[in-house]
Amino acid sequence: IERTVYHDRTPLPLERTALPARPDHDTVLLVAPTYFDVRYRINPYMGGRVNGARARSEWDRVRQTYERYAERVVVMDPDRYGTPDPSESGRGHVAPASLPDLVFAANLGVPTADGDGVVLARMATAERAGEPAHFARWCRAVGYDVFDLPGDAAFEGTGDAIWHPGRRLLWGGYGVRTERAAYDGLADLVDAPVVTLELTDEHFYHLDVCFAPLTEETALVVPEAFTDEGRARIDALFETVVEVPLDEATGGLACNCHCVDGEHVLLSSGNPETERRLRDAGFTPVPVDTTEFQKAGGSVCCLSLLLG
Ligand code: ARG
Repeated sequence: IERTVYHDRTPLPLERTALPARPDHDTVLLVAPTYFDVRYRINPYMGGRVNGARARSEWDRVRQTYERYAERVVVMDPDRYGTPDPSESGRGHVAPASLPDLVFAANLGVPTADGDGVVLARMATAERAGEPAHFARWCRAVGYDVFDLPGDAAFEGTGDAIWHPGRRLLWGGYGVRTERAAYDGLADLVDAPVVTLELTDEHFYHLDVCFAPLTEETALVVPEAFTDEGRARIDALFETVVEVPLDEATGGLACNCHCVDGEHVLLSSGNPETERRLRDAGFTPVPVDTTEFQKAGGSVCCLSLLLG
């Protein structure tokens, strides 16, 4: 299997109709919002006071919605995986109560192509650095192989590294959180080629706030988030590209949506133009309220991690 990293500014010899197939990843992992809060500011959306009860009920509704459309939904209880086992040194251990962004499962890692393993994230910010260790304990407990990325480049999981639906191809956002060099080691570990996309705007600090591959053929994107070359790469590998208006992308995190069954698109409520464009493209929007989580800069997609 080819594991080339097609960095931008190099030619992209891949063809949309010739991308190899990949086993489905159909397990949605969510992390219970027990300690969710906004206590620091590492992206331009962060701020405001979180209403804990409201966050809990929004998250319950997000879970119910995933349960309705996904094959399988599993929930990690941060308290259950919050204690290092005796075999770990415990050095650098951070209690889940001190990790208010742990609820954003997308950033914890990325599954391998075959879905049997997971490559752990290495967070770009000190505030979130303690999170992947909790996820690693959960992975081992439920039976996934756990891999560490070589080197020291930052890598924020499927916030930035997003599988092309159904295909053995990983899209790799870099430039704000994840570093470009992370993909050199990642391609080998996940066993697939990677196509990188540069991000330069802090409002699009993760790829999943400006790029949502809905199906093998269709992607939802925020065109302003990409370089001309990045847009051309997306255009080359998707048959249809639906654009999210900038105001809904930043004002309502509309592009941080998730299509887990090929038809229904779970997205933040309050994004009527994005909903309209999704309907025009043949999808069924399923709006869910994520107001509290948007105070941390996250929505539906950030709250979930698709695993094998
Ligand atoms: N406050 C979190 C951060 O800035 C939000 C993460 C959202 N996750 C995502 N995949 N976009 O890191």
